[in-house]
Amino acid sequence: MTLEGEIALVTGASRGIGKAVAVALAREGAEVIVNYVRNQEKAEQVCNEISANGGRAELLRFDVAKPDEVQAAIDGYAKSRKISILVNNAGITRDGLMLRYSPADWDDVIQTNLRGAFFVSQAVLKGMMKERKGSIILMSSVVGIGGNAGQAAYSAAKAGLLGLTRSMAKEFATRSIRVNAIAPGYIETDMTAELTGEQKEKILQAIPLRRVGKPEEIAQAAVYLASPLSSYMTGQVIVVDGGMSM
Ligand SMILES: NC(=O)c1ccc[n+]([C@@H]2O[C@H](COP(=O)([O-])OP(=O)(O)OC[C@H]3O[C@@H](n4cnc5c(N)ncnc54)[C@H](OP(=O)(O)O)[C@@H]3O)[C@@H](O)[C@H]2O)c1
Repeated sequence: MTLEGEIALVTGASRGIGKAVAVALAREGAEVIVNYVRNQEKAEQVCNEISANGGRAELLRFDVAKPDEVQAAIDGYAKSRKISILVNNAGITRDGLMLRYSPADWDDVIQTNLRGAFFVSQAVLKGMMKERKGSIILMSSVVGIGGNAGQAAYSAAKAGLLGLTRSMAKEFATRSIRVNAIAPGYIETDMTAELTGEQKEKILQAIPLRRVGKPEEIAQAAVYLASPLSSYMTGQVIVVDGGMSM
């Protein structure tokens, strides 16, 4: 096991990609902190699944979009424990054409996806700096690289995460803290369940592997970036999209 002795915080780990990441990190020996904002029952199920497989997990509720809540929750936890892996995964979409897009939707998307990752990282980095060790992963998207009609705010947030990844990588490299991003393509989760059959078919036609991805396939990239297997990588983006963005 490559992550024995590590403590990993995964934001948005009650469902989808975050859940798969939490389970995979625990399988590699990390103790996992399962964050969620609304779905306590689902988050508890993730912890139970990890425990049933011989791993260790606990819940930590906070809204990534609320810096005060983030700070209080992480400071409270970090009094006794040292978080060495952070996966900034929590995210939301609010799709809509730009000409009709509301300031409230813009704020929600940016605050959860981009500002959330910034302030959760800030809170966790204090402990990592002291230990001179850490791996931070940001969940971007292929639309943060290539853009997408109807997802201007979400694409802007996901592109912002790539700038944040590179800047943090440069700012904290001397403390042996590595920062990398993952850009998933089309992955089967609650988030993509909202797409219409027609939209899904159109996306499938653009994927050379001709299938949607599984959350577990993103989790494998996260395990790699969290572990010493990627010890000489920082400031990079791993695209996991079945070839869609080639
Ligand atoms: N699915 C895809 O095709 C795809 C592609 C590219 C990138 N991504 C990115 O991958 C990440 C995970 O996506 P997913 O498809 O797994 O999404 P999902 O199934 O909708 O799950 C979203 C997760 O984020 C949590 N969350 C939402 N807002 C939060 C907040 N303010 N504070 C804390 N947690 C919050 C949710 O918690 P609750 O259950 O408590 O609501 C849930 O655990 C997102 O950043 C997404 O943008 C997904």
